[in-house]
Amino acid sequence: MLIVQLTDTHVVDRGELQYGRFDTNNRLSDAVAHVNRLDPVPDVAIVTGDLVENGSSAEYQVCAEILSALSMPYYVIAGNHDSVSGITEAFAHIPEMPAPGAPTIDYVVDRHQIRLVALDTSIPGEHGGRLTDSQLMWLEETLSLRPGAPTLLMIHHPPFVTGIDWMDRSGLEDPDALEAVVARHSQIGAVVCGHLHSSIQASFGGTIAMTSSSTSMQIALALGDVNPYSTTNEDAAVTLHYWQKGERLVTHRSVIKNDLEIYRADWSIGLD
Ligand SMILES: [Fe+2]
Ligand SMILES: [Fe+2]
Repeated sequence: MLIVQLTDTHVVDRGELQYGRFDTNNRLSDAVAHVNRLDPVPDVAIVTGDLVENGSSAEYQVCAEILSALSMPYYVIAGNHDSVSGITEAFAHIPEMPAPGAPTIDYVVDRHQIRLVALDTSIPGEHGGRLTDSQLMWLEETLSLRPGAPTLLMIHHPPFVTGIDWMDRSGLEDPDALEAVVARHSQIGAVVCGHLHSSIQASFGGTIAMTSSSTSMQIALALGDVNPYSTTNEDAAVTLHYWQKGERLVTHRSVIKNDLEIYRADWSIGLD
C-alpha cells in the first residue's frame, strides 16, 4: 500500500497570500496535480495538519475544494493553525470524521490495508501541542483492538526534539507519555507528523517518528538558536510511505516539480 502525505498546506482566503508572500493555495494545487501524476498512484492521501492559515470557514472551503481534486481517498488531521469545528464541518464527507461539536479530531480508519489512526495534538490558540490523558487512553484502547494490523499513527506536532530551537519551543508536551503507549504496540510502522515544514526522522517508542516537507513554504535548517523564524525557498515536497505486504515501511520524499524530467541511462554499456 502506498500512502502519500501532504502537510502544512496553510490555505488562505481566495486571492490572498500567506504572510503577504507565499501563494499557498496555488502550491497546494500544484501538490495535488503532482500526487495525481505519481506512478504508481498512491492508494490513500493524508494531510497532517495546518490545513489552513487562520481557521476560518472560508479557508476550509477553499482547502476542501483543492483537495477534492485528489484522485484517491484522503484523510485530514488538525494542526495548531486549525479549528476543530472548521475541519469537522468542511470534511464531514470523510466517513470516520468526528461529528461537528467533537472536542478533538481523533479517529481510526479501518478500510484499507494499513490502519490509519488520527490523533489531535492541537490546543486552541496555542502554537504547541498536547495530548490529554483521555486521548492517550483512547489510543491505547484503539491500538489494542487490532494488534496484528499494520498501523500508521498521524499527529501534527512531532514527539521529539528536532534541534531547531524556535520550533522545539512549541513542540508536543510530555512526549514520553505518547512514547510509552507507542512502545506497547509493535504494529505501528511510523508516527507521521507535520508542523516542522521539513523532513526529519527520529527513533521513537521502538518505531520511527518523522516530519514531512510542506506543500507551502519550508522552514530553514537552522540548528540551535541561530536564525529563528527563518524559512527558505527550498522546493516543496510530499512524502510517500510505501508498505509492501510482509515488508517494513519505507519512506520517500517526492519533490513537487511540474517540469520534472527523468533521464534513462543506457546501463547496457556496463557500470564501470
Ligand atoms: Fe505549519
Ligand atoms: Fe504547525
